[in-house]
Amino acid sequence: MSKVIYSASVSLDGFVALPNDEVGPLFDWYASGDTEYPLPGTNMVFKVSRVCAALFDENWTKIGASVTGRHTFDVAHAWGGNPPGGGNHFVVTHHVPPEWVYEGSPFTFVTDGIANAVGQAKNTAGTDKHIDVVGANIMQQCLKAGLLDEIHIDLIPLLLGEGIRLFDNLASEPAKLETIRVIEDTGVTHLQFRVVKE
Ligand SMILES: NC(=O)c1ccc[n+]([C@@H]2O[C@H](COP(=O)([O-])OP(=O)(O)OC[C@H]3O[C@@H](n4cnc5c(N)ncnc54)[C@H](OP(=O)(O)O)[C@@H]3O)[C@@H](O)[C@H]2O)c1
Repeated sequence: MSKVIYSASVSLDGFVALPNDEVGPLFDWYASGDTEYPLPGTNMVFKVSRVCAALFDENWTKIGASVTGRHTFDVAHAWGGNPPGGGNHFVVTHHVPPEWVYEGSPFTFVTDGIANAVGQAKNTAGTDKHIDVVGANIMQQCLKAGLLDEIHIDLIPLLLGEGIRLFDNLASEPAKLETIRVIEDTGVTHLQFRVVKE
C-alpha cells in the first residue's frame, strides 16, 4: 500500500534550514562520498557512501508523487521544472503561480488543504509507490491529520542554533513513533520511524 513519507536532513538541534532558508552545511553529506547517485527527476548527481546509495535506491525509486509546501517550492525555484522524484508534485499553496500551470507541468497546485493534496498524490502514484512529503510545515500538518506513515531523518552532527524548526506546531497530544532502523554513515546517521496510529 502507498505510504506517505517525510524525509529531511536535520541538524542535531532540530533545524531543517537557517533563518534565511539556506541549508548551509546540512547538505554537505550529499557531496562527500565516493559513490555517485543520480537523483531521479533531476540533473543532480549526489556523491554519497555506498551504504547510502543503496538506501537512496530503495527510497527514491519508490516515490510515485510528492506533496510539496509552497515555501520549499519557492526557495528551490521550482527546481527549474525538474523536481526531485520525477513524479507529479502537488504543491500546497494559497496562491497559484500561473507560470507553472500548463499541460505537462510537473506541478499541480492544491488550494484546499493537505488532505486533498495527499489524496490526489495517492491517486496518481498508484498503490505500489510512495508519497514523498516535502516541507516541514506540510509534514507537521500531515502528522496532525494522521496522514503521515513514516519519518526519515538524516541526522547531521551540527548545531545550527536557529532557523526553520522541523518539529514546530505539533498537536498537544504526543505522537508515538516506532523505530524502523538506524544506519550509521559518514557525517550522517539515517533514522527511520513509523508513525504509530491507534
Ligand atoms: N533540510 C532538508 O532536507 C530540507 C528539504 C527541503 C526543504 N528544506 C527547507 O525547509 C524549509 C521549509 O519551510 P516550511 O516548512 O516553512 O514551508 P513548506 O512546508 O515548504 O511550505 C509552507 C507553505 O505552504 C503553503 N501552505 C501550507 N499549508 C497550506 C494549506 N493548508 N493551504 C494552503 N497553503 C498552505 C503556505 O504558503 P503560501 O501561503 O505562500 O501559499 C505555507 O507558507 C525551507 O527553508 C526549505 O529550504 C530543507
